[in-house]
Amino acid sequence: MNDVHELLENPQTDAARNRGSSSNGKFMNVGFIGLGHMGAGMAANLLKAGHRVTVFNRTPAKAEPLIAHGARLATSIAEASRGDAVVTMLANDEAVEDVVFGRDGVIANLPSGGLHVSSSTISVAFSERLTEAHTRKSQKFVAAPVFGRPDVAAAGRLFIVAGGDAAAIETAAPLLEAIGQKTFVISDTPKAANLVKLSGNFLGASVIEALGEAMALVGKAGIDERQYLEFLTSTLFDAPIYKTYGSLIADGRFTPPGFAAPLGQKDIRLVLAAAEDLRVPMPVASLLRDRFLNLLAHGGDRLDWSAIGRLAAADAGTAAFSTLQR
Ligand SMILES: NC(=O)c1ccc[n+]([C@@H]2O[C@H](COP(=O)([O-])OP(=O)(O)OC[C@H]3O[C@@H](n4cnc5c(N)ncnc54)[C@H](OP(=O)(O)O)[C@@H]3O)[C@@H](O)[C@H]2O)c1
Repeated sequence: MNDVHELLENPQTDAARNRGSSSNGKFMNVGFIGLGHMGAGMAANLLKAGHRVTVFNRTPAKAEPLIAHGARLATSIAEASRGDAVVTMLANDEAVEDVVFGRDGVIANLPSGGLHVSSSTISVAFSERLTEAHTRKSQKFVAAPVFGRPDVAAAGRLFIVAGGDAAAIETAAPLLEAIGQKTFVISDTPKAANLVKLSGNFLGASVIEALGEAMALVGKAGIDERQYLEFLTSTLFDAPIYKTYGSLIADGRFTPPGFAAPLGQKDIRLVLAAAEDLRVPMPVASLLRDRFLNLLAHGGDRLDWSAIGRLAAADAGTAAFSTLQR
């Protein structure tokens, strides 16, 4: 259920069942900035949970379904930042930088004591910069990156990893409750949550690459890939990540992207940056970096990141690059 209209009209979501019952009964005036694949569903669930939501997106048309269901449209980032809290769900560090540090941005307009919940997958270093900037303005900051693809976001079933001081986490709780099925508070230091998120995406990409190699091997020998996958995921590899990505790879279903390849490449780059800072060699992450560059060099920008799982078959001569972009 990706469609925001559908989500807002269908009461059978977890968020809808929770309507009017945030944990402490507190409904907030919240701005939501970034209505992409993930943000649209997250903002819809805040609305359904009873919060007063003011939305802003660089491309305003994406706000229309939410406006039709009671969200207020902000015509500027500043306008979306003047409530109790603002949630950002943006592509990368550069997008968050533009939105937060711009002249008309979040830092300049969020009231003292106001809360910024940053759910984008961003670098550890940039999260630290955000923490310092908000602290200087006496604003609360919680890093709350999420696990789950757009359908999971729309269903209000994300897993959230949160970092921030106790008061900020408590303020954020009614919002996080509306967005996800469970929040894991990692640390009182926001950047720790960003590191955990990046580590998770490193594992996700590793699974995709490993599955792709195993499927290329059995596929070239003439073994049915779907049967093989059925065997794996009903025995030792009975986990959502193998099921989701195994079937995307077997079907070659890489468009439309749920998580676009350039964002996957960004995450591996950020993993390696964090690893370099901490002096942690990650040879598999280095390999994944090249896998993503390979995909992007062959025109994979509009594909799902799981398309790296077809590169092994291309290397084996059993899939053509052109078939990645059906
Ligand atoms: N998709 C997933 O499965 C998934 C899962 C977990 C976490 N994430 C992370 O969540 C974040 C959002 O992912 P997504 O899949 O929702 O991405 P997306 O669909 O590409 O949406 C990106 C959002 O960022 C906005 N944006 C980009 N550059 C901007 C700029 N310079 N100024 C203002 N706004 C800007 C876009 O606005 P426009 O609409 O105007 O382009 C859009 O609202 C990323 O950090 C991603 O790594 C994604």
